[in-house]
Amino acid sequence: MITDFASSLGNLTGESTLVYQEIARKVEREKGIKTINFGIGQPDVKTFLRIREGAKRALDDGFTGYTPALGIDELRQKIADYLSSKYGEVKKEEVAITPGAKTALFLAFLLYVNPGDEVILPDPAFYSYAEVVKLLGGKPVYAKMSFSESDGFSLNVEELENLISSKTKMIVLNNPHNPTGMVFKPREVIRLQEIARDRGIILLSDEIYDYFVFEGEMRSVLQDPAWRDYVIYVNGFSKTFSMTGWRLGYIVARKEVIQKVGVLASNIYTCATSFAQRGALEAFNSFGDVEEMIKLFNRRRDVMYQELKKIKQFKVYKSSGAFYMFPEVSELLKRWNTDTKGLSVRLIEEAGVITIPGEVFPLEVGKRFLRFSFAIDEEKIKEGVNRIKEVIEADEKKRS
Ligand SMILES: Cc1ncc(COP(=O)(O)O)c(C=O)c1O
Repeated sequence: MITDFASSLGNLTGESTLVYQEIARKVEREKGIKTINFGIGQPDVKTFLRIREGAKRALDDGFTGYTPALGIDELRQKIADYLSSKYGEVKKEEVAITPGAKTALFLAFLLYVNPGDEVILPDPAFYSYAEVVKLLGGKPVYAKMSFSESDGFSLNVEELENLISSKTKMIVLNNPHNPTGMVFKPREVIRLQEIARDRGIILLSDEIYDYFVFEGEMRSVLQDPAWRDYVIYVNGFSKTFSMTGWRLGYIVARKEVIQKVGVLASNIYTCATSFAQRGALEAFNSFGDVEEMIKLFNRRRDVMYQELKKIKQFKVYKSSGAFYMFPEVSELLKRWNTDTKGLSVRLIEEAGVITIPGEVFPLEVGKRFLRFSFAIDEEKIKEGVNRIKEVIEADEKKRS
């Protein structure tokens, strides 16, 4: 077996959620209990019927060959029309369809990051941004988010500005934000946009949770009429239309950038799946279903918050977007003399509940938090949080 892998792979790591699922399976086998999964990063509803039927029709029509590298014209046009009606003019030539938003993000970094370039990321952040930046020889630089139980998480944009150096190539914004569930305040987004525009830095904005906004106003970077000068926008079908397995995302950028995306696409994956793209055309006729799903998730958010509040060792803020809550658990970490990975493992083993340790969302800030997804049904949310509460209380009793 030849294992002298390319040095660019370095210490690249993959998604750690699978590790916890493996431990959960072991616990289920050994203890005969059903575990409850708060680690989930996708809606638990089926892809909406119209979309599934659209893809089936495409298959039956034999729409199974390659498509243009940037995606089928009809879908690019639909995305452009949709974004234009929501935010401001976007043209079809400014849209590229990709196999998932993750690929869109990967291409965005690939387009711009040279070895030694710095990319400013929020801390905490979706794990793959930093991994890809490092893979390309770039250096992630972290802008710490602060937390208070009364106001939630915020990004100090002035502090972020101080991190800019001559090597800064990109700033990454993820709004609404994984893992904190925050929707950034419009003035924070506007300020970031001003900084990127004025300093000639690319603003890569991942807005994949844009439909999951329960409170407050969400500002898209596409609302700036000058976005073409500095914005790479990423979104996808995975979360809004519950299409994670379909692998469909998209990039919006000025035409010349999209042409480069086409060159990369034709060398890497040729195109996104043909019949999945046809099915996705029906996503734009499915907003009624999306609204229903969002209402359901909003109720779950209430339940998750009420339940987590009952654990007195947790400091929890009711997140305003995405489908995650990210309570601060440092009191429990101290009490149990562990880190968030250790805590997650113990909660699977003792409570049969899967959570995601905050430390997997680099770099420092996440080390005090646990991520709970509320993309599961209310009864499970109640039971899962209650199991955790009972384990903590039993431990307290033992100590007293
Ligand atoms: C912030 C963020 N961006 C991108 C993705 C990936 O989306 P996709 O399934 O379209 O690749 C995820 C998925 O969890 C995410 O949380």
